[in-house]
Amino acid sequence: MAGNSPPDGEIVDMASEPADSRMRNLRARAYPAHEAGGFVWAWLGEADAVRPFETPAWAPTPDTNIAIVKMHAACNWAQVLEGSIDSAHSSSLHSTNMPTAEVEGSTATDTAWLRPSNDKAPRLEAEVTDYGFHYAALRRPIRDPETHVYVRSTVFIAPFTVLIPPNDKYNLAQMLVPVDDVNCMFYWIAWHPTGGIGQDAWRKFCAAVPGVDLNADWTKKRNLQNHFLQDRAAMAAGDFTGIEGIPAQDMAMWESMGPIADRSEDHLGSSDVAIIQFRRQMVAAAKAVQNGEPAIGTTSATRQVDLASFEGVVPRTADWRTFTTRNARGRRSGRIGRLARQPATSARSASRRRSAAAGRAPASAGTGRSR
Ligand SMILES: [Fe+2]
Repeated sequence: MAGNSPPDGEIVDMASEPADSRMRNLRARAYPAHEAGGFVWAWLGEADAVRPFETPAWAPTPDTNIAIVKMHAACNWAQVLEGSIDSAHSSSLHSTNMPTAEVEGSTATDTAWLRPSNDKAPRLEAEVTDYGFHYAALRRPIRDPETHVYVRSTVFIAPFTVLIPPNDKYNLAQMLVPVDDVNCMFYWIAWHPTGGIGQDAWRKFCAAVPGVDLNADWTKKRNLQNHFLQDRAAMAAGDFTGIEGIPAQDMAMWESMGPIADRSEDHLGSSDVAIIQFRRQMVAAAKAVQNGEPAIGTTSATRQVDLASFEGVVPRTADWRTFTTRNARGRRSGRIGRLARQPATSARSASRRRSAAAGRAPASAGTGRSR
C-alpha cells in the first residue's frame, strides 16, 4: 500500500514494505493541482499536454471576496447545467424570491432580488464563441417599455461553468461538477472585487447552510423523498413553490425529472434557445473527442477573467453583445454591472474589443471543492 507521496507521485513512506523493497520504485498516480477562487483545480489530461493554469472568471485577483454554496444533486450534471444556463424559468419558478419592483436593475435585499420587469416570456438571442456561447434574455421593463429593454445575459464557459446575471451587490457564477452519471456537485459562487456578500449570509440567503439545510456530505435535507419540504399553506398564501431557497426550488425541477431525463420526448420552445445551443455544442464536442480531437474547453483563446454576464435596462436600439466586455471593465474597477439607460454602442466596436481580448491562455480542466 502506498503511503505519503509528494505532487510528482514519488512514494516517500511505505510502512508495510521492507527498506529494500522494489515497491519503493513505484510512482503514485498524481495530477498537477492549483488552488484558486476557493477551489482546488486538477489537470486530468495527458501529462505531456498540461496547459498553464488559468484564473477562474470569479477570482480575477487572489483577494477577490468569494462566497460559495455547495450542494449535492442526485441527477446527471448536464440536467442541472441546463437549468443554470436557462434564464426564462427565473420569472416563474423563482418569482417569490425575484419579485417585480420599481428598481433600475436587479436589486438584492436580505431576502429577495427585486427585478424591474414582470415579463415571463423573454426573447432569447444566442451567439457561439470560442469558449462556449453567450446569450441574452430580453424582457419588457416596467418602466419605458416602448424605448427600453431589460437585458439579462448569461455566459456558458464550456464544459461546466456558467456566469449568470449579477445583481447590484455581487456577481454570480455556477459550476456543475460530475460525480458520476447520476450524481453531481452544484456550486454557486457570489463574488465581488471589494464588497459582495459574506459566506454565512450567502448560504443563509440560499437556504444552504451546512448542518441546517445540508447534511455533512452536502446532500440536502430538502430532497425528492420528502418533496423538498414543500409548504402547501405557504403556497395558498402566495408563495409560488412553497419550497425554501432558490437552489432547492431548482433541485425540485432537476431531480424530479429522474436521474437522467429522456430528452427524446422534449418539445423545445422559443425560450429554449440556450438549451438547444448547449445540446448541439456538447453533442458535437463528444463526437470530436471520439474522432481524436481536443476536448471542449481546452482550446479556447479567451481568458475567463475577460468574460462577464450582464443585466440592466438599456435602449432597445442597443446590442446586448456590446455590454459584456464593458461590464467586465466595470467589474475590475469595482462596479457591478448595470448600465441602465446607457446610449447604444455599436456591435462593431464590441467585436474589436473581443478580438483584442483573445489570444491568451485557455482554461484548464478542473474539479474542485469549496472552502
Ligand atoms: Fe433557477
